[in-house]
Amino acid sequence: MKHFLKETDVARSELPKLFALARELKAKRGRKGAPTPLRGQTWAMIFSKSSTRTRVSFEVGIHELGGNPLFLNRNDIQLGRGETIEDTARVLSRFVHGLIVRTFDHSDVERLAAAGSVPVINALTDFLHPCQIYADAFTVAERWAKGTTGAKLVDSLRGRKIAFLGDTACNMAHSWILGANHFGMKIALAGPQSFAPTKEFDAFLAREGYAGGYQFTTDPFEAVRGADVVYTDVWVSMGKEEETKERIRVMAPYVVTGKLFAAAKKDAYFMHCLPAHAGEEVMPEVLDSPRSIIFDEAENRLHMQKAILATLAAKRRR
Ligand code: CP
Ligand code: NVA
Repeated sequence: MKHFLKETDVARSELPKLFALARELKAKRGRKGAPTPLRGQTWAMIFSKSSTRTRVSFEVGIHELGGNPLFLNRNDIQLGRGETIEDTARVLSRFVHGLIVRTFDHSDVERLAAAGSVPVINALTDFLHPCQIYADAFTVAERWAKGTTGAKLVDSLRGRKIAFLGDTACNMAHSWILGANHFGMKIALAGPQSFAPTKEFDAFLAREGYAGGYQFTTDPFEAVRGADVVYTDVWVSMGKEEETKERIRVMAPYVVTGKLFAAAKKDAYFMHCLPAHAGEEVMPEVLDSPRSIIFDEAENRLHMQKAILATLAAKRRR
């Protein structure tokens, strides 16, 4: 792995090692002798959108690995405004050891990676949110293969079914489709026809080697049948605020209610990348239920991203 822009940037053969490293870093956190592979390094964090989990988990994670995070928000740096993205990548590559980027246009992270000479991590674009998917997969694997690590964690994902409800054309839906295929899981999505995954996304999925790797339906009960995980995301993603009224209107049938959640497997988990809007995309009885693992997902952002940072830093030294 040279960059982490999309789920498939970690080869399937590299997954056990990455999951084992996340497990190890989680276990060793705060202990004497915890690894510091980012010692002497500075990683720039360029964020053009707001963030709680991603920003804090990366800043804390870089510190814990012995490095320095350098946070640059949209007022500090103008990606593609005043200076080309390519020149920004070339300049920053002279100063820092890696770039962590949250932006709108997915091509921004691709262009930074192509023009610069340091690793780039996608911290969310309008198209994909791979950091979240890896933390999520680790979170369920920890439960399905309790007490194990490496290949056993990764193997525990195989054949499991995830149901994704609501905006099935958003970054989280895209990333879960790609991630589920990469991890050997099945995925069904339910949402309004007007928010079904697009032809452009299908072409991208085919290029990644997973053509047709999902089921889409407008019936939420059909999607959750037999599901091991019921997942949803906000209906109004960052940058889509002007569409709020229409989105809430068409997505209303896809709210995750207690009744819908009960139609999944008995031992299914409820997951949400957060921030959540209780009473909008998910009802409080599901969000606060004992089978909701939303805060473990949030915590695992830290451990999995530390594993990704450490892996990219190790590759760079070679
Ligand atoms: N889930 C997630 O990425 O949260 P933030 O937008 O708060 O970083
Ligand atoms: N789809 C959401 C995810 C937030 C983590 C957004 O892009 O706003």
